[in-house]
Amino acid sequence: KRPIVIDTDTGSDDAVALVLALRDPAVEVLAITTVAGNVGVEQATQNALMTIDYAERGTPPVYQGCAKPLYHSHISAEGVHGEDGMGDLGTLVPSARLPEKEHAVDALIALGRRGGVELLALGPLTNVALAMMKDPEAMRGYTRITLMGGAYTKGNTGHLAEFNLWEDAEAADYVFTFGVPITMVTIEACRDKAKITRDDCARIKATGSRCGAFCVDCNRTLYEASARYGEPYFTLPDAAAAAVLLRPDLVAEQFDSYTRIECQSELAYGATVNDRRPRDRVGTASKESPLPPFNCRVVHRLEERAFKEW
Ligand code: BDR
Ligand code: CA
Repeated sequence: KRPIVIDTDTGSDDAVALVLALRDPAVEVLAITTVAGNVGVEQATQNALMTIDYAERGTPPVYQGCAKPLYHSHISAEGVHGEDGMGDLGTLVPSARLPEKEHAVDALIALGRRGGVELLALGPLTNVALAMMKDPEAMRGYTRITLMGGAYTKGNTGHLAEFNLWEDAEAADYVFTFGVPITMVTIEACRDKAKITRDDCARIKATGSRCGAFCVDCNRTLYEASARYGEPYFTLPDAAAAAVLLRPDLVAEQFDSYTRIECQSELAYGATVNDRRPRDRVGTASKESPLPPFNCRVVHRLEERAFKEW
C-alpha cells in the first residue's frame, strides 16, 4: 500500500478529502496531523477524529500541531465552513478517541525519517515548515508534497491569494524552496468547474451511506455561503488535491514552474508567483546565474465529470 501522511486544518472539504483517502484501498494513511486554518487547531483535531469515525476505515493516529501561523495571528474561515468548521449541524457525533500526545511537528519528522512517504497538505503549511526547520534531513524523506493551495489566475482570499498559502505565506515559501518536490493543486482545479450541486448531494444521500450523508451535510454552511453569492453549489478544493494524489488520471491540465509565495507586498501578500520560463535559459536579473530549477507542478484543472463520479 502507498503510505501517506495528511496535514489538515479540518474543515468540511478537508473532511471529504480525508474520507476519500481513508477509503482508498491502495493507500495507507499513516497519520493525520492538524493545524490552525479553517478553524482553531483544537477544533481541527476534533474534526479529524470525528471524520475518521465516519469514514469507518481504520484508526490512524491524529497529532495536534500549531495553533497559529509563524509570524501572524490566526484568521479562521468560520464564515465559510461554520463555527465548528463542519457546517454547524449540531447533529454530528463527536469522537470518543483522543489525539496522540506528541506534537504534529515531531510526528511529521518521525514519519519523514521512515522515507518513501508522501505528504498531502490540506491547510496552511505551518507544521510542515516548522518540521523542515527543525529536522531538514528527516523531512527530505518525503518523496513529494501534494498540497491544496495557490491561485493560478484569481484568488479566493486576496485578489491573487488562496486561503491556505495566504494564511501562512512565510511558512509556504519556506516549504516551496525547501527541496522536496511539490504538486500544487490550485483553487482553479475545482472552482467554476467541479461544482457540487444540490442534485449531486441528493444522489449521494440516496445511497443511504452514513458516511456519504456526513460528507454532504458537513458542507452545509459552505453551500449557503456560496449561495449568498448567487452560486447554488459548492466546491471541494481539498478533495481536488486528494484526487491529484490518489487518482492522477483525473488531472486535465498542469504545468511545471519555479513557484514562490509573495511575502512582502501589501497588495499581493500570499500570491503564488509561477516562473514558467524554460529552465535552459539564463535569468535576466543576473546574466551569470541560471534560473533555479522547477520546484513545483501546478495542477489547475481536473477532468470534471470523472472527478465528480469519483
Ligand atoms: C482552502 O482553504 C480552506 O477553506 C479549505 O479547507 C481549503 O483547504 C481553500 O482555499
Ligand atoms: Ca483545508
